[in-house]
Amino acid sequence: MEQLGFITLIEADDIQRRVREMAERISIDYSESNPLIIVLLKGAFIFTADLIRNLTIPHEIDFITLFSYGEGTKRSANVGVINHIRSRTEDRDIIIVDEIVDTGRTLSRLIKTLEDHNARSFRICTLLDKPDAREVEIDVDYVGFTIPDVFVVGYGLDYRERYRNLPYIAELTPEIKNTIKS
Ligand code: IMP
Ligand code: MG
Repeated sequence: MEQLGFITLIEADDIQRRVREMAERISIDYSESNPLIIVLLKGAFIFTADLIRNLTIPHEIDFITLFSYGEGTKRSANVGVINHIRSRTEDRDIIIVDEIVDTGRTLSRLIKTLEDHNARSFRICTLLDKPDAREVEIDVDYVGFTIPDVFVVGYGLDYRERYRNLPYIAELTPEIKNTIKS
């Protein structure tokens, strides 16, 4: 399907099916645990909402906002933390949920921040992985879809705060990017 400079990469039904599979896997892996799920805002909010509604184990949720300097599709090396989690993290099994792992800088910064929290374990869960864009090595434990190094929007992912509401994942083509002013 192609419309208005969007090329659909992953259809809504395929996302839902895969998210259910990921939740089943996590429910099995954490059947003896009560994991703390740390959601990276803003992008991961839609993915997480669907993921946790398919979990069959007890779990807790907390949110963290990280930002990288720069906006649009530019990549940036600097990542800051806006708010810290308030949940108890000591001796907890932590699952960090992100919507996409690109350079890996955001997650590697978050892991550094969480290192002094004395968690029992850490795993990373992402809907999308762009391994060809990786600049910092990072272990990702649960991956929904591996995609090429293209800029995508939808299902929580934005371009200048737009398109998060699309139920599918689409590549934003240069023609449409150039027409968007924020
Ligand atoms: P990192 O490069 O792995 O640190 O990813 C930083 C953040 O950039 C991600 O969590 C997303 O919020 C955003 N990002 C990376 N690639 C894309 C993309 O293709 N579309 C929209 N946002 C992206
Ligand atoms: Mg993000």
